[in-house]
Amino acid sequence: MVSLLPTPHPKERRIIFGNISKPGYAPDIETYLAHGGYESLKKAIGMKPGEIVDMIKAANLRGRGGAGFPAGAKWSFIKYDDGKPHYIVVNGDESEPGTFKDRYILHQDPHQLLEGLAIAAIATNVHLSYIYIRCEFPQAAKIVWEAIKEAKAKGFLGKNILGSGFDLDIYVHQGAGAYICGEETSLLSRLRASGPTRASSLPISPLCLAST
Ligand SMILES: Cc1cc2nc3c(=O)[nH]c(=O)nc-3n(C[C@H](O)[C@H](O)[C@H](O)COP(=O)(O)O)c2cc1C
Repeated sequence: MVSLLPTPHPKERRIIFGNISKPGYAPDIETYLAHGGYESLKKAIGMKPGEIVDMIKAANLRGRGGAGFPAGAKWSFIKYDDGKPHYIVVNGDESEPGTFKDRYILHQDPHQLLEGLAIAAIATNVHLSYIYIRCEFPQAAKIVWEAIKEAKAKGFLGKNILGSGFDLDIYVHQGAGAYICGEETSLLSRLRASGPTRASSLPISPLCLAST
């Protein structure tokens, strides 16, 4: 388990790390629900994909993979109604030395990741997702699998989410232990069981939510 976050600086406003900064916060679903968890998913399930994407754009949500890429723009690249299969891949490789942007979420607030992922899936009409977690984080992989089981049991994931008819399956994939695997096209090559090399034939803007 990663250590607790230090107390925030008076001028620091934690958003993604907001829950885990609260004393006694635990990664289980009951704790998440007690802190308002899955309420946003309940709203999103009744919305149209374009409406969700517009909200994400208006919120100016940005990726945490390094470039601060606008998430709403990335989601809008996915043609949710083109009849082709699409997948969401979550980049939990975190192989940059000294970075701690993913592991706190994976270990201490996995349901926040799953809820965001489910909302992204509704916005892009995706029914299958992979969470790529670096192999040096075996405990994170266990915690996320456990969270997936809990969320499925409550109807937030899996078949017929919250009675809506929308399905989402999520798999955890343990990484290949190389820095380059955090790069998105290399990560996708790994998922497809080829070498961790840059695959220039892949689209350059896959929906890597990254950074949990
Ligand atoms: C060599 C290399 C390593 C990378 N490693 C990571 C990583 O460990 N985690 C990550 O989130 N993004 C990493 N990235 C960035 C990803 O390629 C990609 O831009 C990111 O997952 C996009 O996510 P975002 O939209 O959340 O920013 C790496 C990029 C390069 C070039």
